[in-house]
Amino acid sequence: MSVTVIYYSRKGNTRRVAEAMASALGTEAVDISVPHTPVNSDVLIVGMGIYAGKPDQNILSYIDNLPVNRIKYAGVFSTSASGKDRMETAVSMLRHKGITIHPKHLNLRGSFLWMNRGRPDEKDMHKAVNFAEDVVRSAGE
Ligand SMILES: Cc1cc2nc3c(=O)[nH]c(=O)nc-3n(C[C@H](O)[C@H](O)[C@H](O)COP(=O)(O)O)c2cc1C
Repeated sequence: MSVTVIYYSRKGNTRRVAEAMASALGTEAVDISVPHTPVNSDVLIVGMGIYAGKPDQNILSYIDNLPVNRIKYAGVFSTSASGKDRMETAVSMLRHKGITIHPKHLNLRGSFLWMNRGRPDEKDMHKAVNFAEDVVRSAGE
């Protein structure tokens, strides 16, 4: 079963989390905003920063264009100032593709202006790795 972490990150917070997950899983973290070979894994972990209350249009368009045949299961995570779940659009688009979504979403706080300095921090990274491992375990059941 192959796993890929994909992410969209304007300021680097989501990227750091994606890279920690990918490194723990022994896979790669793909920045969807730079050219890459099309992702075609059984399992995806999809990460996104939240801007003006929602994911960036780039990640939404990317999801819209994902191939429907191979990807079966996905886990979603975000970083944002509030730490709230603002991924509804992304999740419903993934579902629309016939992909089963891991029931638990991971929403971490990310630094923004004077808020959440140092986040995501060590504890967040630990949570992120546990989450990623949980997604892969559930996908295999
Ligand atoms: C232009 C902009 C708009 C943002 N809007 C929100 C928002 O509406 N709600 C929120 O909780 N955080 C907001 N944030 C904070 C980001 O979600 C947070 O810094 C996140 O970690 C960014 O991820 P990134 O570093 O991967 O780009 C905003 C940040 C930027 C730069």
